[in-house]
Amino acid sequence: MSADTISEEIVYLNGDYLPISQACVPVLDRGFIFGDGVYEVIPAYGGRLFRLDEHLGRLDNSLEAIRLDNPYGHKKWQEVLSKLLQQYGDSDQSVYLQITRGVAKRDHGFPPDTPATVFAMSSKLSTPDATSLARGIAAITSTDTRWQNCYIKTIALLPNILLRQQALDREALEAILIRDGRVTEGTASNVFIVQHGVIKTPPKSAQLLPGITRDLVVELAHANEFACEETNISEAELNSADEIWITSSTKEILPVTQLNGQAVGHGQPGPVWHKMIAIFQAYKAHLRKQSKS
Ligand code: PDD
Repeated sequence: MSADTISEEIVYLNGDYLPISQACVPVLDRGFIFGDGVYEVIPAYGGRLFRLDEHLGRLDNSLEAIRLDNPYGHKKWQEVLSKLLQQYGDSDQSVYLQITRGVAKRDHGFPPDTPATVFAMSSKLSTPDATSLARGIAAITSTDTRWQNCYIKTIALLPNILLRQQALDREALEAILIRDGRVTEGTASNVFIVQHGVIKTPPKSAQLLPGITRDLVVELAHANEFACEETNISEAELNSADEIWITSSTKEILPVTQLNGQAVGHGQPGPVWHKMIAIFQAYKAHLRKQSKS
């Protein structure tokens, strides 16, 4: 047995903890056939799941929207996910969990009496590298071609994938999506701008995913007396913003310094971002310390 096999990642599938190479799902799983399922990505700092109740609350909302019962209560989720975290100890991690409508003969309507498929895994959290933080990243704008229910964290991500690839093809890392002349979000992130010292992010609606990191940034902004508004952002406001940030569980708070090939503000991560990322890092450091005491 090679060293790779010995250290193979352990994942959770339908009640079992097993090496990832042995975790198999039948081809008739509705996740595979239809993309009929939902997911969550939850960061863990110092071995502690970050805002687990909020992530599980969002999971409940996604499940309710697709009319699928949560197979587990919150206590059971905590137990499963905490067990997965143990393999990487106290290092920062990112937990992925997915629930699909199970395995059944291919037919669009819901299959009766079919148990859901439940999968979860944890990997080391890979946050943006030092260069991205020092220089910021490039983004493009694209028309938001997704459906009307973007608040559901569905595994059916083909529109997001195509839009992200449009950005990558233009040597940018994210596409900021515009619907009816307004910013919704990124393909896998929420969007903030800074305009004349005021931090702005679009209000929650069916057109965007209610990001847990987004909520934290709004909370930290208020707690630290930054001017912060949840308000619609027009494409023109985005184009003339002093700063643009994207946020997510894995990207944390990332400055966008090029938009469609043009500099955002002075083309460097801005002063408000510098303050906010310092507050965010201090908040995470505090969480890590708490988990050890
Ligand atoms: N995506 N909007 C979309 C469309 C997303 O996919 C995500 C996260 C977010 C940010 O949400 P949060 O702050 O809760 O991570 C917003 C995850 C990380 C992913 O798909 O990998």
